[in-house]
Order: sequence, then C-alpha cells, then structure tokens
Amino acid sequence: MKDLTHTCHYALYDYDELADRDRDLIEAAKHATKGSYAPYSKFHVGAALRLADGTIVTGANQENVAFPSGLCAERTVLFYAGAVYPDRAVTALAIAAYAEEGFTTMPIAPCGACRQVMLETEQRYRTPMRILLYGTEGVCVVEGGVRELLPLQFDSF
Ligand code: THU
Repeated sequence: MKDLTHTCHYALYDYDELADRDRDLIEAAKHATKGSYAPYSKFHVGAALRLADGTIVTGANQENVAFPSGLCAERTVLFYAGAVYPDRAVTALAIAAYAEEGFTTMPIAPCGACRQVMLETEQRYRTPMRILLYGTEGVCVVEGGVRELLPLQFDSF
C-alpha cells in the first residue's frame, strides 16, 4: 500500500499586487455579474476568460425555476467561447461573485462540474489556463492549470 497525497498549489495576492493583465480580467468578471440571472439564490457570479488572441469573453450564472436547468457562470462563458471562437485557446479564467452585501470577501472557487469542463477546455486546446478567483480580501491565483483544482480527473478516453 502507498499512502499518496495530492496538493493544490496556489498563491494568495492582495488585489493591488496583481499585474494589470490579471486585474483587467478580474474587472471583466466583476462587471459580468451584472448579467447574472439569479432570482433564487441571489448569488451573482461573473466569469471572464481570455482567449489566445487577447479577446476577453464574459458570462454569468443563469438560473431557472427548475433548478438543474440553470448554469454556472464558468460553464456559461466556456460554452459560449467554445461555440463562437472554437479555434482559440482559453489562456485565463477569472471568477467573481456578488451577494447582497457586495462582492464576496473570500475568493469563490468553481464547482466540480465546472472544473470538469475547464479541464476539457485545457485538453481541447492543449493549453493550461491561469485561474483567478476574486475576493475583496484576497485573490487566489492558480498558475498550474485546472489539474491543481481537480486531482484524479476523469479523462480516460
Ligand atoms: N455558481 C456559479 O455560477 N459558479 C460557481 O462556481 C458556483 C455557483 C452559481 C450557481 C447558482 O446560480 C448560484 O451560483 C448559487 O449556487
């Protein structure tokens, strides 16, 4: 028997410490929360991704009274980008969330289903993405791609 451990490597930055490029993507994700349709949870998530040519694409969570019919911000923007720009790799993804008191203090992390879609996006374009998780008290930066967030992935075929 071998006892193995997976680690998740990420850095926590103050917003002011970030490069302009990262701040721009985070601002796009924050702005994207305005497009959220979240009458049930009142949790407005925005996501912004950067394509290989520098284009920024945004999306937000879309809820539905039949709950499973809704979609998270991350998958909304990833599927949109895949449909409209199928030949451009995704190089970075930023996520921000706005609740009743304002933007969350802690960074919010993508759900498991979104991580799976993020992983396949990386595989599809053979490009790891830089992941920026925004909170007012700190920004989590994952430089190693989705594998950091999703160990033991289902990617076997
Ligand atoms: N949500 C996202 O859009 N992204 C996440 O990473 C976590 C959760 C949405 C789904 C739902 O509309 C609301 O946030 C509350 O869970």
